[in-house]
Amino acid sequence: MSQPDGQNNTLDNLLSENRTFPPSPEFAAQANATAEWYEQAAADREAFWSEQAARLHWDTKWSQVLDWSDAPFAKWFVGGKLNVAYNCVDRHVESGAGDRVAIYWEGEPGDSRAITYAELQREVSKTANALAELGVGSGDRVAIYLPMLPEAVFSMLACARLGALHSVVFGGFSSEALRSRINDAEAKVVITCDGQYRRGKPMPLKANVDEAVTATPSVQHVLVVQRTGEDVAWNSGLDAWWHDVVDRQSTRHTPEAFDSEHPLYILYTSGTTGKPKGILHTSGGYLTQAAYTHSAVFDLKPESDVYWCTADIGWVTGHTYIVYGPLANGASQVIYEGTPNTPDEGRHWDIVQKYGVSLYYTAPTTIRTFMKWGADIPAQYDLSSLRVLGSVGEPINPEAWMWYREHIGGGTAPIVDTWWQTETGAIMISPLPGVTEAKPGSAQTPLPGISVAVVDENGDEVGAGGGGLLVLDKPWPAMLRGIWGDDERFRETYWSKFADKGFYFAGDGAKYDEDGDLWLLGRVDDVMNVSGHRISTTEVESALVSHDTVAEAAVVGASDATTGQGIVAFVILRGGTDDAASGDTAIAALREHVAREIGPIAKPRQIMVVGELPKTRSGKIMRRLLRDVAENREIGDVSTLADSSVMDQISAGLKTGS
Ligand code: WT7
Repeated sequence: MSQPDGQNNTLDNLLSENRTFPPSPEFAAQANATAEWYEQAAADREAFWSEQAARLHWDTKWSQVLDWSDAPFAKWFVGGKLNVAYNCVDRHVESGAGDRVAIYWEGEPGDSRAITYAELQREVSKTANALAELGVGSGDRVAIYLPMLPEAVFSMLACARLGALHSVVFGGFSSEALRSRINDAEAKVVITCDGQYRRGKPMPLKANVDEAVTATPSVQHVLVVQRTGEDVAWNSGLDAWWHDVVDRQSTRHTPEAFDSEHPLYILYTSGTTGKPKGILHTSGGYLTQAAYTHSAVFDLKPESDVYWCTADIGWVTGHTYIVYGPLANGASQVIYEGTPNTPDEGRHWDIVQKYGVSLYYTAPTTIRTFMKWGADIPAQYDLSSLRVLGSVGEPINPEAWMWYREHIGGGTAPIVDTWWQTETGAIMISPLPGVTEAKPGSAQTPLPGISVAVVDENGDEVGAGGGGLLVLDKPWPAMLRGIWGDDERFRETYWSKFADKGFYFAGDGAKYDEDGDLWLLGRVDDVMNVSGHRISTTEVESALVSHDTVAEAAVVGASDATTGQGIVAFVILRGGTDDAASGDTAIAALREHVAREIGPIAKPRQIMVVGELPKTRSGKIMRRLLRDVAENREIGDVSTLADSSVMDQISAGLKTGS
């Protein structure tokens, strides 16, 4: 099988881990989930999912749980009708929870706003009325390019209310990345803001939209939230202020029920080619799994818990575990605008203390950053309200897991290591707090109702103790329904590798330990994971070769103690390595160029100028060897190289400092 290169050390560390942490009897006694759920779901999967769907309000009940006859295009809760926004907002108001705070919004400069469910209903209704006035209707696409402001949530729910699809584009993406996403989805409206606060300073955002919309024929309006009050350029043909258009709208809007399979959103994610994939999610199945997993995995008690997911709304974690899951469950949650070290490195713990956060969900890279900052920082705050800690985005190393448990969780809070993907829409593999005996570093068990397998290259199960490729062997309610506008790519990317078996290929390596617990081992394809964000090597390579000075580029993800992987690029310059362009300023210019093309998150950590790249006889770049160089390891087997001396030249070149 194709082992994720360079993961072997991690693998050894992980598999020598044998500490276990059984749930406390007190926690188990009050837990939402029970061990019986596994048996019930195994006995009758569809009946189990039916019960989960009953968490929602359906205007029309479904007549069939799953229609898989047109696989790999699934239909869940066939014939059912619901309004997703009604489920996330109005029904809580109608059932008497209107005064419950839905969102404790905390601005980076220290301003804050508590929004009750009743207020959320008014804000979402106004936003829906405004979008309707701008011509948005069922099936239309709206691009949302906003930082962590309440208006981002209002906008997403307003789209859902109207049956329009949102396409949220992470605020850290460049104007070029925004433009290609707007054009691929043919968005009618773009919602953005003047600027955002980052590390205490206002940073412009609308300028990126101005640049993007010079070549987006589908865009008819740009709706602009005022956040920083900084000057912005104004395009009177397109632009409208949020406060001019939304504020004057009626606070009432009647939601319409849409088909269970009505599209809800598109979210772009990196694949193995340069072009991001528009992952398509629909309504009933997605919301069912979002609500179920959020309740079971975080043990949410909506009346008493305060939940906080630190992800950005621009990623799927923000979609499912800030907007849809928590709000469908009537949770009270914190949304924080800024960075964890503004004004100082205690900001997250200050927020936990201020709001009494009880459920906290973050990424391993953030935990490792906190570790670097030191345990004395969280020690200065009262974190006793925390009762469940979550992790997502990459494998969590046992050291970080133990630190998280000790220094944040007071040595008692269960940790849930949740494995899932943009494509899966919701959590698939995770311990259940109060049920699972936890193991540091292992995501452990597919959730009740979810089925996975670890297989070899032929699709045969490897069994206990074996390693291989992670596949999802049965459809699940929140699964992607396709890639926007590209059915062929959908089949090819996820379903062609094990076509005869009908497995979904996740792109991750995984291993079972002797107890049958799952350990995720990272990507087996050319996708990097930097701070829990997916970036494709080809995307960064295309950005590099689009620069005048670059003839050829190869990019690898090298292990990084904080970010999981760091981007390391090898470039051949047009003038050759002796060219003055290989100097530090030229390299700095290339890093900036990548940030401009894709976004700052894609900036290579390191760029090495080389004379040749290692290629097989068929011309495929052998990234494995470059990763050896990037990670300062002895170089592996070079026998399949077209020219086996290339690696010597690269190593020699690096030693001379070029
Ligand atoms: C990839 C999906 C799911 C939301 C955040 C990322 C990796 C994710 C874990 C975990 C090991 C994980 C996988 C996966 N991943 N969670 N708990 N343990 N790996 O979503 O950008 O779609 O990336 O993230 O490699 O395939 P995404």
